[in-house]
Parts: sequence; structure tokens; C-alpha cells
Amino acid sequence: MLDYPEYRRLKYLVEKHLLDFLPEIDQNSISLYDSMRYSLKAEGKRIRPILLLAACELTGCDPMQALPYACAIEYIHTYSLIHDDLPAMDNDDLRRGKPTNHKVFGEATAILAGDGLLSTAFEAMNKDLLLYLDQPVALKQRIRATSEIAKGCGCRGMIAGQIADIEAESQVVSAELVGYIHANKTAALIEAAVVAGGYIGGANAELIEVLRSYGENLGLAFQVADDLLDVRGNEALTGKKVGKDESHNKATFPVVYGVERSARRLEELTENALAALSKYRDKAEFFVEIARELSIRQN
Ligand code: IPE
Ligand code: IPE
Ligand code: MG
Ligand code: MG
Ligand code: MG
Repeated sequence: MLDYPEYRRLKYLVEKHLLDFLPEIDQNSISLYDSMRYSLKAEGKRIRPILLLAACELTGCDPMQALPYACAIEYIHTYSLIHDDLPAMDNDDLRRGKPTNHKVFGEATAILAGDGLLSTAFEAMNKDLLLYLDQPVALKQRIRATSEIAKGCGCRGMIAGQIADIEAESQVVSAELVGYIHANKTAALIEAAVVAGGYIGGANAELIEVLRSYGENLGLAFQVADDLLDVRGNEALTGKKVGKDESHNKATFPVVYGVERSARRLEELTENALAALSKYRDKAEFFVEIARELSIRQN
């Protein structure tokens, strides 16, 4: 279960501060804020911000330093879910155990809430950068973190994966295509979270490569687990409808490899993530535990 003291501690930190980096509310755009808050406050696992904070902590740095970036990555992830659920995309009506954003606020507001969350994420990170203009080393680390997140969520990352995912609905699914989709739509942002946390903490080049390899493998495993949960998961636990990938002809791991081989691949990718950490095993207990827990997750 994703419910052990280290995970709970970092999740608490994220959730306590999750709304802190939203701009001040303007009464003229109150419905936009309501809609953004609705999806942010719904029960998510907060994996990306937790990994970012944990990576910062692994370097010996206070995770509070990384908080704006952790919240920013959860804003980006939440925006991606709101847009992913839209009728023009996956057309889902349940997310995080609640009606999807567009079901409650309407499509136009849901689109704008996604836009608002994405731009707020970059506003929050830039606001933090401005605090370090006179500290070149710390500034450089934070610029690297921001660039990593920008790339992970952008057109050579998450968005590349999302367009391939949508276009694949009408294609014959190959192993290569599903690998591309997973690497981009999901692994890119998870890798960015881990690497960005490392940068903020001042990790050296060797540790950054370790974190990158861990994040990439964990991210791939995460999407294989997501595909498997869609086939054999339980709606009450996942908080989203199951069986929707099949009904949308999605390019998923189980479609290409079958459920059993997908489950084996999930174990393999998890082992690869753990192997990447081998040199840091003593210090990286949290990363070992979270990879194991995520591989058997039910939500
Ligand atoms: C769901 O992400 C979308 C994917 C990229 C697989 P999560 O499983 O992290 O969703 P929440 O944040 O816990 O709701
Ligand atoms: C979503 O992938 C990936 C992003 C939101 C970037 P899915 O479409 O498989 O996620 P779920 O299953 O709806 O959460
Ligand atoms: Mg999708
Ligand atoms: Mg979806
Ligand atoms: Mg899915």
C-alpha cells in the first residue's frame, strides 16, 4: 500500500502547500479558480511532487526548497488529467473518485482550468527563480530543474506521447509505438520530477544520471501498471472507470503483449529502476520502497 510514514510525510507537505502557488484570486475569474481547485484538491497519489521532494532530500537539501517546483509539477500533471478526460480526448467522466472537471464545470471552463494550471506552474517556478538572481549556483540549479520539467511536459515529452496516444486509436499497434507512447506521455514527466529534484538539491552529474535512469524506468513501469489497472483494476480503488482503453482501441501494453507478459515487464522495469540505484542503495531507501509499492499498486 502507498501508505507508509515517508510517503505520508512528503504527501502531507505537498497537500499542505498545494494551493500556495496559485495567483491571488480575482473575483472576475472565480469559476476558473473553482475549477482548478476542484481537480487539485481531489484525491491524487501526488507521486510526481513526492518524487521531486525526495530527490532533493536525497542530496541532503531541505525539501522545502523544492516546494514551488513540486507543486508546479502537480499543477502540470493535474492539467494533463483534465485535458486527457475531455470528450475530444479520452472522454472520461470519473477521475480521482469524482466527476471529471468538464462534467462539473463544462468543457470551456475545463479547458481553461488546464491552461490556467499549466501557466501557473511556470509562473510559480519563475517566481522562485527571481529569488535567486544574486546566487548564481542556486539559480543555475533551479533553471536546470525548470528546463527539465518544461521538456518533460512539452512537445518532446508528455504532449508528444498524448498526440501519439490519440492517433494510435485508429492504427495497428506495434511494440515500438506503445513503447514510444509510454516513454513520452507518462515516463517523461516522472523522469523530469526525479531529475529536477536532484538539480535543486545540487546533485552532481553522476547522481543526475542515476536519478534519470531510475525515473525513466519507474515512469515506464508506472504506465504499464496503469494499463494493467484499466484491464483488471477496480473502479472503487482507482477512482476512474476501468475497461476504457479497450473500448477506445487504445495502444496499451496488454494489447501488444497480453496481461501476463505485461505484468512481467512491469516487474522487469521495476528491477531496472532499482538496479539504477545500486550505488546509492543505503541512502535511497525511499526510492526503493516507492518503486516496489508502485509496481503492486491498486490505484
Ligand atoms: C494517471 O496518473 C495518468 C497517468 C499518467 C498514468 P496518476 O496515476 O499519477 O494519477 P493521480 O494523480 O494519482 O490521480
Ligand atoms: C494519461 O494516460 C497520460 C496523461 C494524462 C499525460 P491515460 O489516458 O492512460 O491516463 P488515465 O488512465 O486516463 O488516467
Ligand atoms: Mg489518455
Ligand atoms: Mg485517459
Ligand atoms: Mg490509462
